Amino acid sequence: METTRWPGVHREGRDLYTVNGEPGTRVYGEPLRTVAGIEFRQWDPFRSKLAAFLLAGAPADLLPPVRRALYLGGAHGTTVSHLSDLWPGASIFVVEKSPASFAPLLALSRRRANLLPLLADAQLPERYRADVGEVDFLYQDVAQREQAGIFVENAEACLAPAGRGVLMLKARSVTQRRSPNAIVRETRERLGRAGLRIDGEASLAPFSRDHVALAVRR
Ligand SMILES: C[S@@+](CC[C@H](N)C(=O)[O-])C[C@H]1O[C@@H](n2cnc3c(N)ncnc32)[C@H](O)[C@@H]1O
Repeated sequence: METTRWPGVHREGRDLYTVNGEPGTRVYGEPLRTVAGIEFRQWDPFRSKLAAFLLAGAPADLLPPVRRALYLGGAHGTTVSHLSDLWPGASIFVVEKSPASFAPLLALSRRRANLLPLLADAQLPERYRADVGEVDFLYQDVAQREQAGIFVENAEACLAPAGRGVLMLKARSVTQRRSPNAIVRETRERLGRAGLRIDGEASLAPFSRDHVALAVRR
């Protein structure tokens, strides 16, 4: 097991791993491996776009140790669980609007003290900004038409001045009438107008079709 340029992310061959914050327990059926008494969970790039982004060459400083993070579109907690492994001392607020997805997310959060789930709509950050406060890291994976606007509003509501973010952009969810390249360009411009600088971009193929990851900083 080797370290990588992202603190807390380990690698063996092409496979990524995080140290299991809940030893002996799988979150989504991922393989577990114990090396020198430490249990690692494999981080599947076909199930987690963040793992796909790391393998596609995300910036080395994408995942600095953080105190507070806001994750939009937590679903069942697949990617969230790996951030929970990476940042054991952080408060990771996880917004999910689907009650069906929220139930497993809530169960995961009961076992992992650094996860704080919110049943809420990411389009309405004013409903949770007082609870969340200022965060060092903003992550969004919601596949909605207004993805850029949702990201900008949440950044304006909660992202610290030196904060970092990741937007997983699904161009086909924005519109199918313009090319994905045009959507990415428009998104970059929209973020730029809001004072957000993009310092990393990668297509997530072959792991996740139609997605482009954008690394953002204020
Ligand atoms: C592709 S899934 C996220 C997968 C997850 N990020 C992962 O990697 O484990 C998208 C999720 O975003 C949620 N979602 C969509 N629109 C949302 C919104 N406006 N507010 C909060 N959650 C939303 C959906 O219910 C769904 O669970």
